[in-house]
Amino acid sequence: MAKFHEISPNAPAAQKLLNWVDNRFPLTKLFKEHMSEYYAPKNFNIWYVFGSLSLLVLVLQIVTGIFLTMHYKPDAALAFGSVEYIMRDVPWGWLIRYMHSTGASAFFLMVYLHMYRGLIYGSYRKPRELIWIFGCAIFLALMAEAFMGYLLPWGQMSYWGAQVIVNLFSAIPFIGPDLSLWIRGDFVVGDATLNRFFSFHVIAVPLVLLGLVVAHIIALHEVGSNNPDGIEIKATKDANGIPLDGIPFHPYYSVHDVFAVCVFLMVFTAIVFFAPEMGGYFLEYNNFIPANPFQTPLHIAPVWYFTPYYSLLRAVTSEMMYALIACVLAGSVLAVTKVKMPNLFKGVIVVAALAVVAMMISIDAKFWGVVSMGGGVVILFFLPWLDNSPVKSIRYRPDWHKYLYAIFVIDFVVLGYLGTQPVSLISSRIAQIGTLFYFGFFILMPWWSRIGKTKPVPDRVTFSAH
Ligand code: HEM
Repeated sequence: MAKFHEISPNAPAAQKLLNWVDNRFPLTKLFKEHMSEYYAPKNFNIWYVFGSLSLLVLVLQIVTGIFLTMHYKPDAALAFGSVEYIMRDVPWGWLIRYMHSTGASAFFLMVYLHMYRGLIYGSYRKPRELIWIFGCAIFLALMAEAFMGYLLPWGQMSYWGAQVIVNLFSAIPFIGPDLSLWIRGDFVVGDATLNRFFSFHVIAVPLVLLGLVVAHIIALHEVGSNNPDGIEIKATKDANGIPLDGIPFHPYYSVHDVFAVCVFLMVFTAIVFFAPEMGGYFLEYNNFIPANPFQTPLHIAPVWYFTPYYSLLRAVTSEMMYALIACVLAGSVLAVTKVKMPNLFKGVIVVAALAVVAMMISIDAKFWGVVSMGGGVVILFFLPWLDNSPVKSIRYRPDWHKYLYAIFVIDFVVLGYLGTQPVSLISSRIAQIGTLFYFGFFILMPWWSRIGKTKPVPDRVTFSAH
C-alpha cells in the first residue's frame, strides 16, 4: 500500500480534507501537472484563447442539450411540435434552445479560429502531429454531430438537408444505394432516420467527442504547447528543468482565459437575446415550417459552417471534370519529367494517372463531388506531412507565404458565401476556381512551402511585457 502523507492535526479542515483525498486520488498531482506546473510559452497571444473557448462551448452544448432532451420528442409526428412547446411553454425553454442553436454556430467559429491558429504557427508539425490528428477527428465528429442535430427540429430544412446529404452516398459506385438506404433506415428520410440521428446526437457522438478532446489535451500536455514564434521552449531549461521561456498555465493563462470567457459571453448573450436567427444564417427561415416530404423548398442550403464544403461538392460538375482530368494529367507529366526517380516509379505514376482518368471518365461527376467534399476535410489530416517549410511560424516565413494564407482565408470565406446561395453560371465558375485553389493550396504545399527565403528564427521566444 502506498505511504499515507500525514498532516498536522491543527491544519484547517479544508487542508485536512484535501490531504485525505490526495492519499486516495491524485487530485493535487493532477492539478500541478496540468495547471500550476504546466509550463506554457510566455509569448501566447489572442490566438491561444480559442482552445479554451471551444472547451467552454462544448460544455455549454452538453448542458443545454441535456435540458432540451427533457422536453424534446424524437418522433416524426411530434418533434416539430415539441420544439415549439419548448420555445413557448417550457419555462426558460426559449433560452435553452437559443443557447444550444447559437452554441452550434459559436462552436464552429471557435474551432475554425483555433484551427487557423494551428495553420499559421505550424502547430501541427513535429512533435505535435497527433494533437492535430485528434483535432481533425474532433472536427469530423463535430460535423457529424451538427448534421444529425439539425434533423431533430424536423423543419423543412432539417428534412430536405438530410435528404440531400444522405442521398449523396448513393453516388458511390456499387454500394451507394444500399448504403444510403442503410443510413436512413427507410426509402426516404423518415421516423427511423429521426430516431437514429437522435440517439447518435445525444449520446454516441458526444461520447466520441469527449474522448477525443481528452486525448487531444493529453497529447498537448505530453509534448507542450507551440507558440507564435514556433520555437520549442523545452530546448532551453533552467537548473530545475523548467523551460526558461515557460510560465505556469495557472494563474498566468487561466486569468487570460477567464477574461476571454467574459468577452465571449458578452458577444454570445447579445446574439442569443437580440439576433438568435442571425438573419437566417444560424437558424434558417425555412426551418420554422414543419417538414413536408411532398414539398421540396426552392433553395436548399446547409447552415453556414458547412457551406465551404458544400461549395466543394457543387463545384464538381461534368464540365469541371475536364479541368480535373487535365490537372491529373499535368501533375503526372510534371512528376515524371521534373522529379528524379527510377524508371519503374515513373511507370507506376503513369499507369496510376491513366487509371484515375479512366475512373473519372466512367463514374458520374456527382460521385466526384462527394469525393471533393470529403477530401476537403480528409486532406487536413495530412497537413503535418505536406508542410516542408524549414520554419514553423508564419512570422519567419517569406512574405509571400502570408499573402498565400490570406488568399486561402478569402477563398474559404467566398466558398462559404457561395454555398449559401443558389447556383448561377458565374457563381459556379467562381466556386470552381475556389475549389481548385483550395486543393492546390494543400496538394502543392510540399513544393511551395519549401521555396522562398525564410527569416532567421531567434533562439528564445520574442516577448515584450505589457
Ligand atoms: C472541441 C474542439 C476542441 C477543443 C475543446 C480543443 C481544445 C484545445 C485546447 C484547450 C488547447 C490548448 C490551448 C490552445 O492552444 O488554444 C488546444 C490546442 C491545440 N489544438 Fe485543439 N481543440 C479542439 C479542436 C481542435 C481542432 C479541430 C484542431 C485542428 C484540426 C485542433 C488543433 C490543436 C492544436 C494543433 C493545438 C496545439 C496548439 C499549439 O500548441 O500551438 N484542435 N486545443
